[in-house]
This record gives sequence, C-alpha cells and structure tokens, in this order.
Amino acid sequence: MDRLEFCRALARDAGRLAHSAFGQSTTTMKGRHDVLTAMDGEVERFVRQAIAERYPDDAIIGEEEGGHGGERVWLIDPIDGTANYARGIPHYCVSIGYLEHGVPTTAALHDPSHDWLYSAARGQGAWKDGQRLAVSPCADMNAATVECGWSTRRSTADYLSLLTRVMGAGCAIRRCGSGALGLVDVAAGRSEAYCELHINAWDCAAGILLVQEAGGYTNDFFAGNGIVEGNPLIATNRTLSARLSEVIGIPITS
Ligand code: IPD
Ligand code: CA
Ligand code: CA
Repeated sequence: MDRLEFCRALARDAGRLAHSAFGQSTTTMKGRHDVLTAMDGEVERFVRQAIAERYPDDAIIGEEEGGHGGERVWLIDPIDGTANYARGIPHYCVSIGYLEHGVPTTAALHDPSHDWLYSAARGQGAWKDGQRLAVSPCADMNAATVECGWSTRRSTADYLSLLTRVMGAGCAIRRCGSGALGLVDVAAGRSEAYCELHINAWDCAAGILLVQEAGGYTNDFFAGNGIVEGNPLIATNRTLSARLSEVIGIPITS
C-alpha cells in the first residue's frame, strides 16, 4: 500500500469512527464559538497511532494534540466542522494531508454523512471516490459563489469588510462551517472560491492539494510559518482567480 492508499483507508476508517457518535458526542467549549467533542480527541488518537505505526519517522501535527513540523509531516484535523458535528448537522469531515519539504503531496478527506472519500496526489489529479474532480468553469462574478470562512481569530470588522467586498463585486456568499469541505466544494466545481482571513494548516492541508489538482489556484499558504501558525487562505477556480484575488486581497501564487 502506498502513501495515498494508506491515507485514503485511514481517512475512511476515521470518518466512520467519527460518525458512530454523530450529534451525540459529549461537548465542551475550548473558547468562544470553539466547540470540542470527545470524539475529536478519539479520532485524532486513532489517526496518530496508525501513522506512527506505519511511518514512525514522520512528524505529525493534529488540531487537538499539536506537534512539530518536519521534512515529512502529516496534518490532521480529526473533525473539521465540529460545531456542525456536535449539533447533528451533517456537514463535517476528517481531513488528512501530508507534506514533503513544505509541499502537499498526498491528501484524503472523508465526508461521513455521505460516505464520500475525496483524495489527491501531486500530479495525479483530485478524486471523489472514482470520479475525477475539476474546478468550475464559471467566468461571471455575478454567477459566482464564494465561501468566506469565519472564526473568532480575526475581528468582526475585518470579516464584515471581506463580505462587503465579495458581495459588492457581485458574488453570492456562503459560510457552512467546515473549511476543509469548503475547499472540496471548490475542487468539485460546486463553488468558485473559498477564502478565510486566518485558517490553520490542519484545516486546509488536504483541501489545498485537492483544489490544485482539480485545476484551481491558491495562495502560497505554507509560506513562512504557515504549517504551525496558519495563514490567510484563498482557493479559486481558474477563470475568476485574478479578479477574486484582487477583491479578497490575498495574492494567488499557484
Ligand atoms: C473550523 C472550521 C471553520 C473554519 C475555522 C476552523 P473546526 O474548524 O473549519 O469552518 O472557518 O477556521 O477553525 O473547529 O470545525 O475544526
Ligand atoms: Ca478545523
Ligand atoms: Ca477540528
């Protein structure tokens, strides 16, 4: 089994574990609008153990237990969309990304509510189960939908300013509560862009590779200390990338 197959099987198993307590896992608050369920920790431990057994020399960074970067590093979000998950809203996923020398090369993301497995490997395309993904061909800002992720890590004023610019440029907006699935929507051509003023690497490591392999563009998210500290994020289709980058205010690099 190569890394991609390992990653795919692991994401699917972890997703099924998460779904066994969907809407029922014990919930606490890490902070304002920052939900934690018991299953977040359980899924992360399950994924960490599988990676450590198979690739003992690789570094692992997970949302709940942290970790340090390395030449070969796995980025795990055990449940992305935890607020949805805790409330029984079927829009959440397990996201596993793998980077070599700071470049994402392998990704798998399981959407347990549909039992859909998304995956990508650098140079080999992005896939939803056996179906190849491609970004939207939409070239009209007045027909474009942009998902604008939100967290309390940035100010309300900055978020409202972003919404005002995006809507003022003609786009419709969404905010569905899972950055990882927001990126999947761009890769699958279901929305034209995902953006967030600050997001962590475990949220988006898998989704960034999916968007790039589906023919879309992103900023250089892993630049600087992005793996540990996070960064702003933009991911778009090809046709609207220049205009959306200008409106959102995040330069696109690839
Ligand atoms: C959050 C979700 C949300 C995004 C935040 C993330 P969590 O992750 O992806 O959509 O806007 O930046 O922190 O807490 O559900 O794992
Ligand atoms: Ca997350
Ligand atoms: Ca999470």
